[in-house]
Amino acid sequence: MKKRVLSGMRPTGKLHLGHLVGALKNWAELQNKYECLFMSADWHALMSEYERPYNLRENIYDNIVDWISCGIEPEKSVIFIQSEVKEHLELFLILSCLTPLGWLERCPTYKEQLREIKGRDLNSYGFLGYPVLQAADILIYKAEKVPVGEDQLAHLELTREIARRFNGLYKKNVFPEPEAILTETPRLLGLDARKMSKSYNNTIDLSDNEEQIKKKISSMFTDPKRIRLNEPGHPDVCNVFSYFTAFAAERKDDVREWCINAKLGCTDCKKELAQVIIEVLAPIQVKRKELAADKKKLRKILDKGRDRASEIASSTRKEIKDLIKI
Ligand code: TRP
Ligand code: SF4
Repeated sequence: MKKRVLSGMRPTGKLHLGHLVGALKNWAELQNKYECLFMSADWHALMSEYERPYNLRENIYDNIVDWISCGIEPEKSVIFIQSEVKEHLELFLILSCLTPLGWLERCPTYKEQLREIKGRDLNSYGFLGYPVLQAADILIYKAEKVPVGEDQLAHLELTREIARRFNGLYKKNVFPEPEAILTETPRLLGLDARKMSKSYNNTIDLSDNEEQIKKKISSMFTDPKRIRLNEPGHPDVCNVFSYFTAFAAERKDDVREWCINAKLGCTDCKKELAQVIIEVLAPIQVKRKELAADKKKLRKILDKGRDRASEIASSTRKEIKDLIKI
């Protein structure tokens, strides 16, 4: 029997190249080895977007279209929307009862987000429980593997602690302790060489057209020490170069050679890169267009995903309800 994998993404905006290299490529590979469930974590998105949830529904569908266009196959994986499988919230409540407040208050991501995220009031009861809902997402399917980035490791550790506490309290091994599959792709930085993020306005989106891609790449930060064209550059500290590594590894040696021997200026180098990215995104965008125009097909995929996810979730639910006498 294949081990089960679950992962999720919050539908808080359009997807960008960072999602492609940081998550989707990895998800697409896992499909062949594991039984995979991928969900749009709309409840988690609501926890931070509740004041202005305007684009939430649009983002859910737009993101899932991107997933499928990037190679997540509905025939292989269960693709669904978190809020359409009711058991997540039920287990969330049950796990909330047995999760000590201190575990949540000490969670490093919680403290960091309260500190870092401005313009939103995250000082809420629900937001404190964010990792408990994430634990419920994972445990309701008894997933054994969870592909996540490094930033989510603390949440996974909490999930394991919560699983252990549940199993201990009710003296039954209901939940396996899930393990992380760390996405070890090199971190792709944004146009300005900070973390790629919608809130920094430094992304290249999977849906960007040629003009947008060219314009964005021409604005990219390069080797900060290279001022003149005839001076050698330093590819290893250049953000543009790291994109070649991520998207056209076969070109990387050429670019390095041109750069360190000052045969190529940064403007031309970026033009090359724009062409690379346009070519990477072209087939994705063809699929994207097709599926975005076929709402019925998308809905069918999501119905099937919801039904399969519900099947697993409701069987775990039965098992749990016996234990907690409700
Ligand atoms: N918290 C995750 C993130 O922001 C999203 C998420 C929600 C998730 N539920 C999950 C990831 C369950 C893995 C498993 O990236
Ligand atoms: Fe970076 Fe390319 Fe300029 Fe070299 S030539 S510094 S790799 S943008």
